[in-house]
Amino acid sequence: MPENFITQTVEAPDTPFDISLRPPSFADFAGQEKVRERLELMVEAAQQRGDVLEHILLSGPPGLGKTSLAYIIANAVGANIKNTSGPTIEKAGDLAGLLTTLERGDILFIDEIHRLQPTIEEYLYPAMEDYKLDIIIDAGPSARSVRLNLPKFTLIGATTRAGMISAPLRSRFGMVSRLDFYTADELQKIVRRSAAIINVEIDGAGALEIAARSRGTPRIVNNLLRWVRDYAQVKADKKITRDIADRALTMLEIDRDGFDEMDKRIIETMIHKFGGGPVGLNSLAVAVGEDAGTLEDVNEPYLIMQGYLKRTAQGRVAMPRAYEKIGLKPPRAQPELL
Ligand SMILES: Nc1ncnc2c1ncn2[C@@H]1O[C@H](COP(=O)(O)OP(=O)(O)OP(=O)(O)O)[C@@H](O)[C@H]1O
Ligand SMILES: [Mg+2]
Repeated sequence: MPENFITQTVEAPDTPFDISLRPPSFADFAGQEKVRERLELMVEAAQQRGDVLEHILLSGPPGLGKTSLAYIIANAVGANIKNTSGPTIEKAGDLAGLLTTLERGDILFIDEIHRLQPTIEEYLYPAMEDYKLDIIIDAGPSARSVRLNLPKFTLIGATTRAGMISAPLRSRFGMVSRLDFYTADELQKIVRRSAAIINVEIDGAGALEIAARSRGTPRIVNNLLRWVRDYAQVKADKKITRDIADRALTMLEIDRDGFDEMDKRIIETMIHKFGGGPVGLNSLAVAVGEDAGTLEDVNEPYLIMQGYLKRTAQGRVAMPRAYEKIGLKPPRAQPELL
């Protein structure tokens, strides 16, 4: 492996805690039934044919299991996986450095693939399609194009913004799958599995309480479990019950619906400062003191899915549920929302 390889890959932002809880196989991966079944089938078919897996695009809000699935797929096909991300591939040479270290059947995982530069995308097309990479070496009069033959590999792309993937890139994936928020039941399974791994006792009601307050997101479920474990250790007899989970999460200011401070602030700001909207994303972001991208990727999807907010052509609008959430009566229905 060339030395510069390290600089071209990013360490997954996940903590050791995340990694220890990451499901190693499809069987350990709860929920997302349809996506999981499709991927399992693809893996099996490719293995029966002795072929390399097609390119796969996984999209969905943060923390739902895109990276986990990429690693599960690599385990299932018994391939090496190289982990990188869109913004860290700055030059064609970076991409070449990654692609040329792959062996047949290996997986190149590009996180945040929507942030690839357009010029890099252009290089990726023939690499994905024909396993060829045409790179220009040298500059000026001595510049020349060199064609590299690549081994047949699988690209797995992950994105929180499916809408930002260009059509030509998207069309080069053999499988495009979207992950959705998890149900409380699915999250409860994840809590119980994680609790067993970190060796903490929890009953069914305790697990469900944490699950219900985790905004449909496995990463949040695991983080809250860690907190509740600490709480139970210091304030109780270590065992997590519904009551302990409730007290621990209340101390963290996570309410019954899983709302944290920022979620509440978003709704209050929309209603009190912007008359319920429509308000543009950037104005809202400034008003709540959050980065617009974070607001759009992290907070909004759940609020929208739960029916608190709506995205319209004019901007974000607070729905009746948002008013009720902060103890107000919703205004009479606005015609454009009907
Ligand atoms: N289906 C699942 N079953 C069990 N645990 C899961 C599942 N999905 C995710 N997790 C847990 O949640 C954590 C976050 O998942 P992961 O890192 O795969 O999310 P992601 O979609 O890649 O997020 P991001 O968009 O922020 O990169 C993992 O460490 C794993 O422990
Ligand atoms: Mg990830």
